[in-house]
Amino acid sequence: MAEHGTVAVTGVTGALGSRVAARLAEQGVPQLLVGRSPERLPELPAAQRRGPAAYADAEAMRTALEGAETLVLVSGHRTGRRLEEHATAVEAAIKAGVRRVLYVSLVGASPIATYLNARDQWLTEQFLAGAGIRHTILRAGIYTSTPAALADEDFVVRGPGGDGRAAFVTHDDIAAVITAAALDDQYDGATLEITGPEALTLDEAVTRIAAATGRPYRYEPETFEQAFAQRWRRGVSGTQIETWISWYQAIARGEVAMVTDVVPRLTGAPATAVEDAAWWPSPNTARGIPTRQGES
Ligand SMILES: NC(=O)c1ccc[n+]([C@@H]2O[C@H](COP(=O)([O-])OP(=O)(O)OC[C@H]3O[C@@H](n4cnc5c(N)ncnc54)[C@H](OP(=O)(O)O)[C@@H]3O)[C@@H](O)[C@H]2O)c1
Repeated sequence: MAEHGTVAVTGVTGALGSRVAARLAEQGVPQLLVGRSPERLPELPAAQRRGPAAYADAEAMRTALEGAETLVLVSGHRTGRRLEEHATAVEAAIKAGVRRVLYVSLVGASPIATYLNARDQWLTEQFLAGAGIRHTILRAGIYTSTPAALADEDFVVRGPGGDGRAAFVTHDDIAAVITAAALDDQYDGATLEITGPEALTLDEAVTRIAAATGRPYRYEPETFEQAFAQRWRRGVSGTQIETWISWYQAIARGEVAMVTDVVPRLTGAPATAVEDAAWWPSPNTARGIPTRQGES
């Protein structure tokens, strides 16, 4: 087995970072698992648990990253201060002597992206470009699991996605690409768009999710006005509504429909079709989305 330098991974208590850490562990790579709650970090071979370290805590991040050669920085939750949080984490990594950063961004990242989350991801990309450290941008496509999580308790996915398309990609495929890039510095300087194998409408994707899970998922397109009014009546805040609706609108406008060969090229296996995904979240589990009974 090739000898690898130590890789620090953040977001390991989450769906993506946990999969990256598990894959690196399978390959015997020494790791630092960095998190806000070290007691919730998994125990893995050749891995040290480090923290508590939030991205915005420069000193805690620097201490947690001591000894790492490469950092896999999973983007944090949307707080309105993500650029500052990510920038602080990158500067802490530089101070700790980290030599390469792999930043997990979002497909379609742009200052004028319709999906609001793709705008502040772009800001972090720009920060990294000027930070003076070797880096790779890994733009994760729209998760295959998200429509299942956005569905209500009756398994209905409602939103203004029209008949636009998205190249849904599984967490496992994204984690496999990140792992490959973390172990091969030929990707330094690259921006890789990680997508699924085909661009599907929400109707097509949700129909396949229903078949795969045996649950009665269905998609009901809404107009923008219906989408806004329905969520407002359910007590969702204006900021949440904007972000939520912008996810559907990015699909409606074709901004996340690009299909790339990044998964097969870096992993040697075809990208996973929606119906073959190995993991499905429960309905009504998208972050920050209130249930009919109250805020989740
Ligand atoms: N491509 C897409 O379709 C898509 C969809 C949703 C989100 N995303 C982005 O991709 C990221 C990873 O996705 P995921 O499915 O793994 O999300 P997830 O399961 O919610 O995990 C997010 C991870 O990031 C950590 N984290 C969040 N904010 C942090 C901060 N300020 N400082 C330190 N750690 C922080 C969380 O730690 P704690 O356990 O301490 O909270 C958790 O481990 C998300 O955070 C989000 O930025 C992408």
